[in-house]
Amino acid sequence: MNIQTSYQKGTVWFYSRFIDLLLRPVHTRVVGVCKEIHPENVLDICSATGAQCLLLDRARINAVGLDLSESMVRLARRRSPPTVRYVHGSALALPFDNQTFACVLLILALHEHTHAEQLTMLSEAHRVLRKEGTLILAEYSPPRRGSHHLIWSFITMIERLAGGDHYHNFRVFVEAGGAESLADNLPLSVEARYPLFSGTVSLLEFRGRIPLFRWNSS
Ligand SMILES: C[S@@+](CC[C@H](N)C(=O)[O-])C[C@H]1O[C@@H](n2cnc3c(N)ncnc32)[C@H](O)[C@@H]1O
Repeated sequence: MNIQTSYQKGTVWFYSRFIDLLLRPVHTRVVGVCKEIHPENVLDICSATGAQCLLLDRARINAVGLDLSESMVRLARRRSPPTVRYVHGSALALPFDNQTFACVLLILALHEHTHAEQLTMLSEAHRVLRKEGTLILAEYSPPRRGSHHLIWSFITMIERLAGGDHYHNFRVFVEAGGAESLADNLPLSVEARYPLFSGTVSLLEFRGRIPLFRWNSS
């Protein structure tokens, strides 16, 4: 998938007008968790319009955003104070040294990628996380098969609008069990789980970096 073309100006406009509002409860919950752990710095991987970094900054938490879309980075810089730093770069090869951040966020960033890319993104997130750091991950958590769920239908519609590889990877991700299954297969223990949007999105908090860490790539 060519991310540069799939998150260009039109998408960025739509994202900042609608998706940011929809994701507000997720971003607010992340700020709540960060207020409890008082991290020295936070890296928001796939920071999009900067909505999350902006809220962290307002709570006086030192935030750095990273995104592959130049249009997203441009908008994020425009709407944020200079205390927030945005980096144009890839989540698949983070331009940061090992153990740079006390807290790392992956907020609805994984599902649009292939399984192999998800593992690389998680491995990179883990690499730049400090030893006693906190990884916060928010992802879709599909309701039981066959159950009619209005919020889930809405989420599926939004993802279908994204189309192409994005929608295909979303389908593969949710069919494999979504956030919960991902968490169960990570060699990290979940410190806390926060269900959002009637359980269709899970916010997962992992504490502590495991030394000599290897992701299971099966
Ligand atoms: C669904 S949004 C992520 C949601 C965002 N974290 C939020 O809270 O609003 C997807 C974002 O990920 C970015 N992205 C996609 N692939 C990326 C990659 N490989 N590296 C960095 N950013 C990427 C896109 O440019 C887009 O801004």
